[in-house]
Amino acid sequence: MFGKKHFTFGDIPDLSRKVAIVTGGNTGVGYITARELARKNAHVFVASRSKERGETAVENIKKETGNNQVEYLHLDLVSLKNVKQSAENFLAKNLPLHILVNNAGIMATAWTLTEDGIQDQFGVNHVGHFLFTQTLLPKIEASAPSRIVNVSSYAHFNAPAAGIEFDKINQENAQSTFQRYAVSKLANILYSNSLAKRLEGKEVYVNSIHPGFVKTELSRGIVDTYGIVAKYFFNFASLFAKSPEDGALTQLYAATSPEIIEKNYRGMYFVPSGEIGKRSEESQNDELAEKLWKYTEDLVNEKLHS
Ligand SMILES: NC(=O)c1ccc[n+]([C@@H]2O[C@H](COP(=O)([O-])OP(=O)(O)OC[C@H]3O[C@@H](n4cnc5c(N)ncnc54)[C@H](OP(=O)(O)O)[C@@H]3O)[C@@H](O)[C@H]2O)c1
Repeated sequence: MFGKKHFTFGDIPDLSRKVAIVTGGNTGVGYITARELARKNAHVFVASRSKERGETAVENIKKETGNNQVEYLHLDLVSLKNVKQSAENFLAKNLPLHILVNNAGIMATAWTLTEDGIQDQFGVNHVGHFLFTQTLLPKIEASAPSRIVNVSSYAHFNAPAAGIEFDKINQENAQSTFQRYAVSKLANILYSNSLAKRLEGKEVYVNSIHPGFVKTELSRGIVDTYGIVAKYFFNFASLFAKSPEDGALTQLYAATSPEIIEKNYRGMYFVPSGEIGKRSEESQNDELAEKLWKYTEDLVNEKLHS
């Protein structure tokens, strides 16, 4: 916690003429990420579900950085139709896209289904981001050198031994809410790996990260699921958490550090503050990654065309 940081805000290079999208950029580590990209002159889109919270964040970032090229992009990851529309709304602007930070997330929510009938943590954290990214991908490739950062978590270690039990994803009571979160975060890493492989030889750098334990609004889900006791527990635990500023460093590293290109980092998993991290065995299982890709692609096609 007190050691020298591998990466700091001061290491972010100038990002003039770069365009970035940060999902969930209205609060938590996403807000700091969007703000620091804007501070270095990037044209930044805060992509989030609440217009009011999103637009407030945009105004705050403009005030804090003096950069007026900050915009709100409506994105609600619980609806695949909305996700597709959001990506298409961005594409209609005819801008390049150099940096995509897939940061939005929910944790340990009570059993809920998305608008498309997908278990919410898997749907929001993984499936929505998969569709958003795949729809934007031709633009990201055309804007190379470019980067995609998928925000995962150390919690991926808590996924079952098999990694992803596909038949349990949508089965109520088959897994605890923390296991559902772990599986969704494992999916973030596996998706990064498969996408990085598909983009080999192209100047699109795809990596995943764990931001550390950070004091943000992420515990909302736990409090809704477990009530007041969970709230006190989290308030106490957060005394040991990083600030959102420190929490944002790892995704900012993957999104902007020249080291990523110099060292040709692809399909890597970084931990604070931009170090190569230890990850679970299942998160390095290529067969599982391919199975997840096919499962997600089929699911998205089925839901979008039903
Ligand atoms: N905090 C930690 O200790 C920690 C540790 C490991 C990994 N992470 C990961 O870090 C990422 C950021 O989390 P955070 O800690 O900054 O949490 P946070 O403060 O709760 O922020 C989450 C962001 O995701 C957005 N979001 C949630 N559901 C969405 C939806 N359906 N569509 C679009 N946006 C949605 C939220 O929007 P609203 O504001 O409108 O709700 C918010 O902007 C997550 O992927 C999380 O899994 C966090």
